[in-house]
Amino acid sequence: MNKRLKTISLMLVVMILSLALAACSSSSTGSNSGVNVGIVLPTKDEPRWVQDEQRFKDALANSEYTTEILFSQGSSGKEKENVETLINKGIKVLIISPQDGDAAGSAVEAAKKEGITVISYDRLITNTDAVDYYVTFDSVAVGAAQGQYLIDNVQGTNVPLYLYAGAASDNNAFLFFEGAWSVLQPKIADGTFKIANSSEAIALKDTAELTRDQMSKILGQVTTNWDPNEAKNKAQTHLTAAAADMKGNVAVLAPNDGTARSIADVFASDSEITSYAITGQDAEKASIQYIIDGKQSMTVFKDVRTLVQDAMGMAVDILDGKTPVTTGSYNNGNTEVKAKQTDVIVLNEDNVKKELIDSGYYEASEFTGLK
Ligand code: GAL
Repeated sequence: MNKRLKTISLMLVVMILSLALAACSSSSTGSNSGVNVGIVLPTKDEPRWVQDEQRFKDALANSEYTTEILFSQGSSGKEKENVETLINKGIKVLIISPQDGDAAGSAVEAAKKEGITVISYDRLITNTDAVDYYVTFDSVAVGAAQGQYLIDNVQGTNVPLYLYAGAASDNNAFLFFEGAWSVLQPKIADGTFKIANSSEAIALKDTAELTRDQMSKILGQVTTNWDPNEAKNKAQTHLTAAAADMKGNVAVLAPNDGTARSIADVFASDSEITSYAITGQDAEKASIQYIIDGKQSMTVFKDVRTLVQDAMGMAVDILDGKTPVTTGSYNNGNTEVKAKQTDVIVLNEDNVKKELIDSGYYEASEFTGLK
């Protein structure tokens, strides 16, 4: 064989080998490799969801069923791909927390077509009938607890109130806001608070119950998109625009811990803000430290261990041919989805130790200055 021919035949062998390899790997992910329960979570960029992953792993350590957890990294396209990957692996149950409640419809419809039971996890998938169950915390109660905290922790009247909310693509953002508004609105109407940063909210200040469209208008102005950076930029813009009578001792409705910390930093660095009370949600470690340090006022603790237990309990019932127990239902815009709901716990500096450390949720050594 001359040298050229040798090179060509070598190249051919390499090509054939790599083709064979590619065929092998696609068939091993494509065929049923025996995953019973598929779990899809929205993003690793928010500590909340990394918590959920860990709690799933802890709960599954001794399970007889096989599971796989995939993250969608904030993209509905990636989420759809994840669901398809899991369908190809033969899952019987899909546990999914959508990135975008509406956009996830087509992913779960594909799963339903394959006879897979779909459990919406923490966030409701909206406007489709392809959701069988919903496991959730009491999200309206989360918002009400945040609002009530502000009411209980401000003094005097005409207290400037800064409103922030979650992503409009997340049904929970509406439930949280609805809960907060239900308690704050009467206190805005009676002059305890004056809204500092939303003309839409000011226009609706005498409306006790907001429609979804009305809430959308407010969210359009005060959404953080669950993004701490966006929250920070908005807070800076709001404080730059605020007149002197919107400074001093203020109250801030922040929808979750990630956004609360970045908004708190902005308020803390404004010399015209004398004091601020600020809410949060999720009991993220970094926020527990902020609460210990007096930089964040409260958080709403959602014990993810319970949610994971509920979701896996449902999945196992389904795999065992039993009907899961539910406690109520949520309308997702298309259908009533049977739901199992869990309570939340309000935390401030006085009870973090009892609720988080004594219950084994976190270790005392993860914090400094814990009393
Ligand atoms: C919500 C969830 C909250 C919070 C937020 C940001 O849907 O219920 O716990 O983490 O998303 O990801």
